[in-house]
Order: sequence, then C-alpha cells, then structure tokens
Amino acid sequence: MKYYITTAIDYINGEPHLGHAYEKIAADVLARYRRMTGHDTRLVVGSDEHSQSVEREASAKGMTPEAYCESMVPRWEDMFARLQVDYSTFVRTSSDANRATTQEFLQRVYDNGYIYKGKYSGYFCPSCEQYYQERELLDGKLCPEHKVELEWLEEDNYFLKLSAFTEQLVALHEREDFLQPEARRNEMLNVIRDGLQDVSISRGFTTWGFPLPFDSTQVIYVWFDALLSYVTGVGFATDREMFETFWPCDVHIIGKGITRFHTIMWPAMLWAAGVELPHRVYSHGYINVGGEKMSKSRGIFVRPLSLVDSLQPPAGSPLVGSDGARYTLLREVPFDRDGDFDLEVAMGVH
Ligand code: MSP
Repeated sequence: MKYYITTAIDYINGEPHLGHAYEKIAADVLARYRRMTGHDTRLVVGSDEHSQSVEREASAKGMTPEAYCESMVPRWEDMFARLQVDYSTFVRTSSDANRATTQEFLQRVYDNGYIYKGKYSGYFCPSCEQYYQERELLDGKLCPEHKVELEWLEEDNYFLKLSAFTEQLVALHEREDFLQPEARRNEMLNVIRDGLQDVSISRGFTTWGFPLPFDSTQVIYVWFDALLSYVTGVGFATDREMFETFWPCDVHIIGKGITRFHTIMWPAMLWAAGVELPHRVYSHGYINVGGEKMSKSRGIFVRPLSLVDSLQPPAGSPLVGSDGARYTLLREVPFDRDGDFDLEVAMGVH
C-alpha cells in the first residue's frame, strides 16, 4: 500500500520561520505513522522559486534569481535535516523535472481548450502573488494577508477557464472528505457560490519563470508551476511508473491562507489536463506570535532552529535532536485553527 503526502513548497526569499517548520513537522509525523503502518510512503517538500519576491530579493543582493535560489536552498535543506523531517524528494520549481512537467501539463490544458488570451487588471500583491478585487482589500487598499498597500496592475495574459468547473467544484466541496477542516470547506463553498472568475496563468512583466510552450513572450504564473511540483515530486514527466504508483496524492498539507489555490485552482487545473485529483487537502491554522501571523515580509519571525536549540533533550534521554521542539510545537498549537506561540516569554528566544 502506498501513501503520498505533500507540504506546501516554501517561498525562499528569506530564512525559514517557525510556521514553515510547523507544517513540515506535522507532515513528517504523518509520514512516520504511515511508514509504521506498513505503507510505502513518500513525503515531498520543495522550494517555490519563480516568485516576484525571490526576484526582488535577488536583485537587492545584486544576484541573478538563479544564483540567489542556489544560495538559499541549502538553508532549507539544513533546516529539514535539523528538524528530522525525512522527505523523499525536494522539488525545486525551477528544476528541469518541474520544467518538463510544466511544459507537458500546460500543453495538455491548452490542447483541451481550457486556455485563452485576455486582459487582466486588479490590485496585485507581490507577496501573495495574487490579484485582488477592490472589495477584497482591507480598508479599500490593503492586502488582506500582508496588510500592505497594493498596486493596480493591468496586462495581457493567458487565462485558465476556471469558471467552466464551477458545478464540479461545488460537488467536490459538498463531499466531506476532500477539504478538511469543515470551517475551510464552508469558506470555499461560499467563494465558489459567490461566482468564480477565470484565472490568469501567465505574466508578461517578468522573465523570471518558464516560458509558455505556446507563447514564449510570457512566463507561467508562479502558482501554476508551484502546484505542479506535487506531480513532479512523483515523476509526472520523468518516471511514469512512479507517477502511476503514487498519484493521486493522499493528502496535501497546507496553511489556511492558500486553501483557494489548492481546492479551487488546483482541481480545475487537474480536470483541465485530465489528471486525477488528490484524495484530500488539509488546511491547518497559523502559528501566531503575539496574536499576529508570522511573516517574513512583516518581520514577525521566530527561527525554528532556535527552538530546537532551546529544547535539547537532557543527557541520557532516549529523545534526540529536535524531538523536544517537534513535540512542543504540535502539543501547543492546535492543527485545525490558529494558535499563539510565545517563545520570548516561554524560552527567552527571539
Ligand atoms: N509558496 C507558497 C506555497 C505553494 S504550494 C504549491 C507559499 N509559501 S510560503 O512560504 O508563504 O508558505 C509556506 C507554507 O507555510 C504555507 O502552507 C503557509 O500557509 C505556511 N505558513 C506560513 N506562515 C505560517 C504560520 N505563521 N503558521 C503556520 N503555517 C504558516 O505560500
């Protein structure tokens, strides 16, 4: 019996924080459990590289985005090693394997008639890599996730016919076993019933990304190749046998803020390409610090390795390395909703 788990792949435009670590630890706990119950288990993690934030950070450091990502990936790999997150594959979205997936997948969607050219405009948040409509902004101007003022952007893009899947999406979310917990499911049903707009899947204002196979003047929208890392992780375009063994994925573990991408856009992409859907998406809550979501862009930050260092097992204990941090995090923060974790008070760590 097989079991395939993915985590969200992280933006690597800064150091990993405790929120990133928390999700990977939870996924690793599930993977350990599945291995113990005799499943041939794969846990796939990765780095999300084609983002505007990576491009900006690289240019601020006088580096190419490629060289910058090259320098950041080892930090994430080191963190996983110290946290004892025993992943099977680390997918970099800029890798050749993910490029091959993206080209093949996109061409299929195009050939199936689910992509068209149009014009897009909206308020763009470079940290979310997402357009918002005015009614979605906080106080009419701020990003609801990052609370920063957003720019109005307009461009010619290719679109995925997301709206064509509205009925299928309603039926998917009426099932109790696709998206958990239930609060998120109800939220998504409301989003779908409010009316879905087609989603722009290419960008003309940057060259950082894979060119579209059918128009090389545009690059693929970062979320499109990021979601495809999940099929790349089990060999979509490189190892058919592994893909057929491990896909569909048993569970995607993600944070609540990216639920829409995973349970509306991702199913539509898979349907459009004629690929099976994952069995389940679990959307966990956030670790907050002083009531605020941890966020690199907002400077609210706890280093996971500081927590590991603060919670080292005493000499002679059967526990090892990160066991204390892993246990404390999972015990202190409920998985299905937000929880506050005050390290400064509890352990004197920044
Ligand atoms: N790159 C996208 C995910 C693409 S998946 C195809 C992304 N990256 S991220 O670096 O911003 O976040 C990675 C994961 O960490 C997401 O699941 C996100 O929700 C989670 N977390 C980020 N901050 C968090 C907390 N403060 N607490 C718990 N998890 C949080 O989104």
